[in-house]
Amino acid sequence: MPGIIERYREFLPVGPKTPIVTLNEGSTPLVRADRVAALAGLPRASVYLKLEGSNPTGSFKDRGMTLAMTKALEGGARGVICASTGNTAASAAAYAARAGLPCHVFLPDGAVALGKLSQAVVYGARVITVKGNFDACFKLVREAAQEYSLTIVNSSNPYRLEGQKTAAFEIWEEFKRFPTHQFMPVGNAGNITAYWRGYKEFFKFNSVNSQLAIRNSQLPMMMGYQARGAAPIVLGKPVKNPQTIATAIRIGNPVSWQGALGASEESEGVIAAVSDAQILSAYRLLASKEGVFCEPSSAAGVAGFLTFARQGGFRKIQNPRIVCILTGHGLKDPDTPLKSKAIITTINADGRSLKKIFQR
Ligand code: F0G
Repeated sequence: MPGIIERYREFLPVGPKTPIVTLNEGSTPLVRADRVAALAGLPRASVYLKLEGSNPTGSFKDRGMTLAMTKALEGGARGVICASTGNTAASAAAYAARAGLPCHVFLPDGAVALGKLSQAVVYGARVITVKGNFDACFKLVREAAQEYSLTIVNSSNPYRLEGQKTAAFEIWEEFKRFPTHQFMPVGNAGNITAYWRGYKEFFKFNSVNSQLAIRNSQLPMMMGYQARGAAPIVLGKPVKNPQTIATAIRIGNPVSWQGALGASEESEGVIAAVSDAQILSAYRLLASKEGVFCEPSSAAGVAGFLTFARQGGFRKIQNPRIVCILTGHGLKDPDTPLKSKAIITTINADGRSLKKIFQR
């Protein structure tokens, strides 16, 4: 499959001469999850997982980065810069390498998952770790971008959200209708803003395009979840010192705060919080019951779904079609599974030891 710019050209700000920077991102799997449905107490509901970790650098950021980097190259940028909890940095570094542009990434020191840090390094970005959190990194990035004429490729860059909205198009194309509910994590709040924009645009496009009549005109309810220790939107004020094991969404003052509020209010959804324990429980469940390994932050949406379902949130809804967005791959964060009691048995390389382990 070609990348998202080729697939959705008509919805994106590109022309025939635009030099496209792509790694053939997008077209990610939408996988049915019957065990998750049963565990939520909804055995007959259709629950799907959108595996955004299948993107080229292992997260949904690639959808936005292909367009941000394409436009940076087209506009003659000198280089790109971003602040990141890890995934944006990995994606920016890869696409900048492909575009031949210098890339500077600012990361909170000691709070980035190992896989993401390795990616930024191997793709050849200039990696700077800051003794402060994401919000502090972003402040420095804004200063540096101004001072040294660099293009910011955080989600404050409008092309990022334009690219990311294409995930909503893919979901519609698979179902040929909208889901009733979409559950997802919220950090800097760009992704929920982008999905909502995508759903609304596709709705408008299909409404005027007679060949593609919309069978069910209902747009999905957008259900966004922050980690309890990093939940500024839920609290209604910035969090100075955000804390959560889900480092990707450890953000105290989200850039797209208003976008996330707009998405949840217009769609009659919610922005709510889940605890680290709930996130980890959903994370393990996805891997052990569905064979899907996502990073902890990605599991926040599923944790939200399980909580919402168990509280009777679907009681009045006939045939819900639920999509949970798994935003990043589990291998991004190889340390987390080994932090709990890992069941690994070491034996001597002989027949007696072999027998012993099966006798127990
Ligand atoms: N899931 C993952 C795996 C992420 O990396 C992020 C954000 C989110 C969810 C939240 O998405 O910010 O659009 O609400 N990561 C950013 C980064 C902040 O720097 O990689 P959001």
